[in-house]
Amino acid sequence: MEKRLYDYGMIGLGTMGRNLVYNMCDHGFSVAGFDKDFSKVEILEKGKGIYKICGAHNLKEFADALKKPRVILLLVPAGSIVDSVINKLKPWMSKNDLVMDCGNSHYSDTNLRIKKLEKEKIHFMGVGISGGESGARNGPSIMPGGSKKAYERVAPLLEAISAKAKGEPCVAYLGPGSAGHYVKMVHNGIEYAFMQLIAEAYQLLKQGAGMSNDQLHDIFLKWNDGSLKSYLVSITSDIFKQKDNLTGNRLVDMILDSAHQKGTGAWTTEDAMALQVPVPVIDVAVSMRNISILKEERLVAQKQLQGPDMKINIDKQKLADTLENALYFSIITVFAQGMALLRNASDAYQYDLKLEDIAGIWREGCIIRASVLDDIMAAVTTQPALSNLMLSEVFKEKLAGLQENARQIVRTGINTGIPLPALMASLSYYDSYRSGWLPDNLLQAQRDYFGAHTYERTDREGTFHTEWNQKQH
Ligand code: 3PG
Repeated sequence: MEKRLYDYGMIGLGTMGRNLVYNMCDHGFSVAGFDKDFSKVEILEKGKGIYKICGAHNLKEFADALKKPRVILLLVPAGSIVDSVINKLKPWMSKNDLVMDCGNSHYSDTNLRIKKLEKEKIHFMGVGISGGESGARNGPSIMPGGSKKAYERVAPLLEAISAKAKGEPCVAYLGPGSAGHYVKMVHNGIEYAFMQLIAEAYQLLKQGAGMSNDQLHDIFLKWNDGSLKSYLVSITSDIFKQKDNLTGNRLVDMILDSAHQKGTGAWTTEDAMALQVPVPVIDVAVSMRNISILKEERLVAQKQLQGPDMKINIDKQKLADTLENALYFSIITVFAQGMALLRNASDAYQYDLKLEDIAGIWREGCIIRASVLDDIMAAVTTQPALSNLMLSEVFKEKLAGLQENARQIVRTGINTGIPLPALMASLSYYDSYRSGWLPDNLLQAQRDYFGAHTYERTDREGTFHTEWNQKQH
């Protein structure tokens, strides 16, 4: 009997990999899977009766099971593991095989891997996937980058398994090289900022206004029916209802207030700094996770550092309504920062990114999916040359109408001592971006005073230096 060959291969059968395999099979594709942990291969094999799948126990068996030229998806942790898998796989690969790294690899690693494998005539693509476990199973947002030709080979697969927004697949060819992994990194940076903004709203309502978990659930549920409609707001409302099996309390109250991270948020701020693109809300979102892990120090400081009592004495419904608008304002500024970073990175790294495609594929399937992305897509489609989303016809008026709410909330934070760095950074980004004059002439003067770093003038061309503090005649 002729041996069956499978359409695609998946290496890494953890939660994401396994669910993506089932998703692929649902769309009629056959898949061979491999994981160095055989128990995961066995779990996959249990689906054999239902799906066209097989589990391999070594990489040779895996490679032999695939149709040629092979298409292999990797869903393994980012970093050296990706290189180690590629190196072990290489002896069993042939010319024109395609490897798709679907993990959260750093974009610079993806560039190196593309170059390295090119020499062996093996194609390599960096493909960002967002949506968590349920996204992988039911349709994620997919951010592929690499050679256009390679993309065309897998477009039918990716379009089939992706989420759909108004009937359109949440996948598009984003650009050459590491474009896909870069866009996924910025997606995660926006995700960090979005989550921090929600966390600040939670602190205001819980600690400041003394709201119960049931009240919080109701507020987030209502918010998810309006301009804040999004995956993150919706799961937040669910979280407040979840009971802890061990104590019977609400689970959220039993979780240590110390946030972990795998690095993509920090990578976003690092790269934005290197490109000199301001993304202050993403910066503070990363910093706040870093403050959160100083639990022991914070407990000591709580007894020693003075400040207001973090209690809010205004009408709770009024506070929630103002906060809803302030959050909407801030989320627009976060997307403006993310899009500005993508526009600059596209020039710097020659990605030729299409912002309307990116906004389009983020509308469903991914963690930052939100109804505001419909407006963002419309804004970048009708005004593609705009330097900043905040200047678009769609958002200019919205921001003008919302900004007083952000100011009120920030004032509440300052008066009560509740830390609101992301809300504050959103407002400061808006205010500094709309400042035709900023005090950096003084900063330039200081640089020239102490370091002879020179300055430019407002009234004539050229570079100038002054011998400061000399006696003037
Ligand atoms: C992921 O990539 O899994 C998350 O979107 C971000 O993860 P983190 O919060 O652990 O960095």
